[in-house]
Amino acid sequence: MIPFIDLTRQHAALREDLLAAAARVLDGSQFVLGGEGQALEAALAGRHGVRHGVGVASGTDALRLALLALGVGPGDEVLTPAFSFIASATTIVMTGAAPVFVDIDPETYALDVAAAERALTPRARAIVPVHLYGHPAPMDRVQAFARAHGLAVVEDAAQAVGAVWAGRPVGGWGDAACLSFYPTKNLGACGDAGMVLTDREDVAERVRRLRHHGDVARYRHDELGYSSRLDELQAALLSVKLRRLDAWTERRRRIAARYRDLLGGVGLGLPVERPGARHVYHLFTVRHAQRDALQKALADRGVGTAVHYPLPVPGQRVFGGRGEREYPEAWRAAREVLSIPSFAELTDDEVERVAAAVREACEQL
Ligand SMILES: Cc1ncc(COP(=O)(O)O)c(C=O)c1O
Repeated sequence: MIPFIDLTRQHAALREDLLAAAARVLDGSQFVLGGEGQALEAALAGRHGVRHGVGVASGTDALRLALLALGVGPGDEVLTPAFSFIASATTIVMTGAAPVFVDIDPETYALDVAAAERALTPRARAIVPVHLYGHPAPMDRVQAFARAHGLAVVEDAAQAVGAVWAGRPVGGWGDAACLSFYPTKNLGACGDAGMVLTDREDVAERVRRLRHHGDVARYRHDELGYSSRLDELQAALLSVKLRRLDAWTERRRRIAARYRDLLGGVGLGLPVERPGARHVYHLFTVRHAQRDALQKALADRGVGTAVHYPLPVPGQRVFGGRGEREYPEAWRAAREVLSIPSFAELTDDEVERVAAAVREACEQL
């Protein structure tokens, strides 16, 4: 069996360093808002070319608090892709604003900027481009569109740490960006964690207040806030992993290149990497008209796969369960996408075996 993902391999390789980091935090016994979090915030802000990182409890909270910090609230609309993980849209609702869904570019799965233009109303206040699967959204065009219409930009970079668009890291383009350190992410914690990145002092300040009960001084609260800090233990473990991130990303890219070599000509849609994009392959997601049959054939051959995502966001009941006609590319993607194993610890032999199984399955469909 080749698993879709296996985190035990990553943790076995880092065991000593992770245990030493955990021991350091236990010995210091400062568990919330201390030096470990600050060091991680500075390191990630620096990598993204922005002045501030603000650690929070999850990627979801990073989106929610970034939107709130930018003043998004009741009466506002926020543009977001119709095809993404649910949190790209639920966090908009959590601020009191309404999501306005936008269909996607079928090659990169990023929101289609021309469709965003058509969906614009005078109530639009912000846009949430998602760098889905690790491929950057076209941030130069998103920024130009947002500037022309006075929209704030909150990048959902949950799946894309390390990705680059036009020479600039994603997460460093918008008014703010969210990172998720959910365990399976390219940089994953040993629990939930996330971060807001921003070059704006006012946004960083406000997220720092919002993550800690809206306090302006000790036990002084001027606005409604939340309890959403990134804890010191996760920060220390993430700092260990951050040292490996570039090597892991290179490995993911090599695996993707190998899959590309091995999977041509079998009727499968392969991920694209647009000129100017550096894809980090959080997921290596292929397309096939008979996706469910392909998934079953791979399971029969011992290859783990996953569907990201089987139902577009507006199709979810929480958002009314409709939209197939308005967002045809999102619906087509939901029917056709299949993610095959692509984590950094996959061996060369496993990559060959996955590719052979995919080829064989496609030829028999
Ligand atoms: C695109 C996207 N946005 C937001 C999130 C939310 O992050 P978290 O799970 O850390 O809350 C995730 C990951 O789960 C994601 O993949």
